[in-house]
Amino acid sequence: LANGLGKTPPMGWNSWNHFYCDINETIVKQAADALVSTGLSKRGYTYVNLDDCWGELNRDEDGNLMARNTTFPSGIKALADYVHGKGLKLGIYSSAGYYTCSKQMPGSLGYEEQDAKQFASWGVDYLKYDNCYTDGSKPTIRYPVMTRALMNAGRPIYFSLCEWGDLHPALWGSPVGNSWRTTGDITDNFDSVMSRADVNVMYAEHARPGSWNDPDMLEVGNGGMTKDEYIIHFSLWAISKAPLLLGCDVRNMSKETLEIVGNKEVIAINQDPLGVQAKKVREDVEVWGGPLSAYRFVMLLVNRNIWPANVTAHLEDVGIPPKTVVQARDLWEHKTMETLLETNISANLDPHTCKMYLLTPIA
Ligand code: DGJ
Repeated sequence: LANGLGKTPPMGWNSWNHFYCDINETIVKQAADALVSTGLSKRGYTYVNLDDCWGELNRDEDGNLMARNTTFPSGIKALADYVHGKGLKLGIYSSAGYYTCSKQMPGSLGYEEQDAKQFASWGVDYLKYDNCYTDGSKPTIRYPVMTRALMNAGRPIYFSLCEWGDLHPALWGSPVGNSWRTTGDITDNFDSVMSRADVNVMYAEHARPGSWNDPDMLEVGNGGMTKDEYIIHFSLWAISKAPLLLGCDVRNMSKETLEIVGNKEVIAINQDPLGVQAKKVREDVEVWGGPLSAYRFVMLLVNRNIWPANVTAHLEDVGIPPKTVVQARDLWEHKTMETLLETNISANLDPHTCKMYLLTPIA
């Protein structure tokens, strides 16, 4: 969407994957505090995003959405002020339907102009727009109404389309939103991560600065996977130029979780200005990769099997011309390999582990 936002994939936190409907203003403020105190905000995690269940079931007599009085008594404007005071941005959530998916609050269908203005007046910076309780019309009809409303709202608001991929939003989303979901909801397990990555990559050609494929939010730190599986999850999202929205309780992150989501070198791949989504170039022991800015390349080797594997990947597979001499840096070990590479790279991979390399041609 040509609103000047999302030049690189958005980074931040969203309440849904950990808290579901059980959110309140204290949790959200503490999440903002935690992004700052852990140093993650400095690494780029700046959006603090509410998901479903922040509002009252009914609109007020003028048709305005209202923050839920029992859980957000200070209101959204106060929350936005708090978040902005920390140098962060506030995201909100609604649905292109009569209700949001929880059915615990109204959606914005028929109220797009009013709600967009309301969000802008509260100081909201990001809207995630779900696809529940619709009137049955196509998302291609309902979503652009909100796009126009946001454009008229007088404040730049990142627009995240949460059409779960049913109508292939990658094929029509670029003029409408800054990102769109390519998959149904993620769950906190390895199969879910891998299947989301597999579907998401089918739309790789449609990703570009300002318009990203979204395979759903991160589960790193929620407890359902091993450290190595979370590293695969984070690596795949990074190379896929996916939004990096933390979905754990950022107030209580383990050292391990922080190490994964705070990996500067991996974040830099996601935020690379070229904005090209990596592709899967080989199955089984998988090879993923693609170009980066400044004539560099990224390669990710993934062993999704439950037995160990030795893998040899060809540099050409990720777009490196033949006979190029390449320096490889292991982005999880934080080590530059001493031996220069010419045609291949080989690695031994334990089950459910990966290797991620930054490849720089030097001759
Ligand atoms: C469906 C979305 O895909 C989820 O991410 C979340 O926003 C829920 N709806 C909220 O009800």
